[in-house]
Amino acid sequence: MATASAPGKIILFGEHAVVYGRPALAVPVLQVHAVARADLVTDKRIGEKWADAILVEAPDIQLFSPLSHLLREPTPDPLASVISSVFQLLGISHPPALKITITSTIPVASGLGSGAAVSVAVIRALAAALGHSLSDEQVSQLAYETEKLHHGTPSGIDNTVIAYAKPVYFVRGQPIQIFSVARPFRLVIADTGQAAPTKESVGDVRKLWEADQHRWEAVFDKVGKIVVAAKEAVESGEIASLGPLMDANHALLQEMTVSSPELDRLVLAAKAAGANGAKLSGGGRGGNMIALVQPEKAESVASALKAAGARNTIITTIE
Ligand code: MEV
Repeated sequence: MATASAPGKIILFGEHAVVYGRPALAVPVLQVHAVARADLVTDKRIGEKWADAILVEAPDIQLFSPLSHLLREPTPDPLASVISSVFQLLGISHPPALKITITSTIPVASGLGSGAAVSVAVIRALAAALGHSLSDEQVSQLAYETEKLHHGTPSGIDNTVIAYAKPVYFVRGQPIQIFSVARPFRLVIADTGQAAPTKESVGDVRKLWEADQHRWEAVFDKVGKIVVAAKEAVESGEIASLGPLMDANHALLQEMTVSSPELDRLVLAAKAAGANGAKLSGGGRGGNMIALVQPEKAESVASALKAAGARNTIITTIE
C-alpha cells in the first residue's frame, strides 16, 4: 500500500497570457489537497476477480477498467491515461491488479488545480506501490500529459506548481524557477460556486488571438510586465505594490473575456471591504478569485465576500 498527497494551487498573476509564452506566478495552497492510495491486490480471491484489472474508486465516481484496455488504446479518460503513463514510464507491461482510492478536498473546476492535484497524487502513489520513486520533474511531466486531456492547450503551470509544491515563476518550455517571498502576505481566496470551464475559456482566448494576433500579443505583453513587476515586489517585500498590480491584471483578464459577473462582483466586494487588490485566479468565467489583504482585514473581507455570494473562502498566507 502507498499513499501520496498533492496540494491545490492558485495563480497569483499571469493566467491565460502564460499559454502564449508570458511568465506567470503561482503558489501551492496547502489548505486543500488530493490524496491517492494505491493497493496491490494480492488477496487470491480478489486477485482472481480483479485479475488483469485496475479499480479506481473516488467518492463520486467509480471506474472499473480492464488493464488491457488501458495499455493498448490511447484513452481520453484522464485517470486511465495517468495510470497507463506511469506503467509506460516504469517499463511495466504486465502490471499487477491494483486498487486506487482517491479523495480530494479541492473543489472540482474551481481554478484550484483539482485535476492536476489528483494526477500528481495518483502518479506518486502508484509509482511508490510499484517500488519506484519519481522526481518532481518526472511527476510534473506525466501530469502535464493528462492536463492536455483536461484543458486542450495547457501551459503546464498547474502540474508544475503542484508537483513541486513551491511558489513558481513559470515560463512555458523553460526550466522551473522557484521564487522567494521576502515578506509573507495574506490572501483571501473566494469561490464563486460556479464551474470554471478552463478548456472553453482557453479556447475562446485562442479564437480572439487568432482573429487579431497584433492586439492580443500587446495585451499579453502588458500581463507579462505585471508579472515581472509582481515577482520583484514579492522578492523585495514591497507588498503594497501587489494590490494595484492585481487590479491591473484583473482588468486585462476582463478584456480577454474570461471574467464573469460573479467574479467581478466578488472582486468589487473585496475592494469595498478594504482589500488592497483583487483578481480572478485560474481559467476564469467561474471558479475562484483572490484578494490581497492586510492580516487584520482578512476575516472581514472573507465575510464581505460570503455576503456577496461566495460559496466558500480560504484565508492563506504566502510565505
Ligand atoms: C489555468 O489554471 C491557467 C490557464 O492559464 C491555463 C494554462 O495555463 O494552462 C488559464
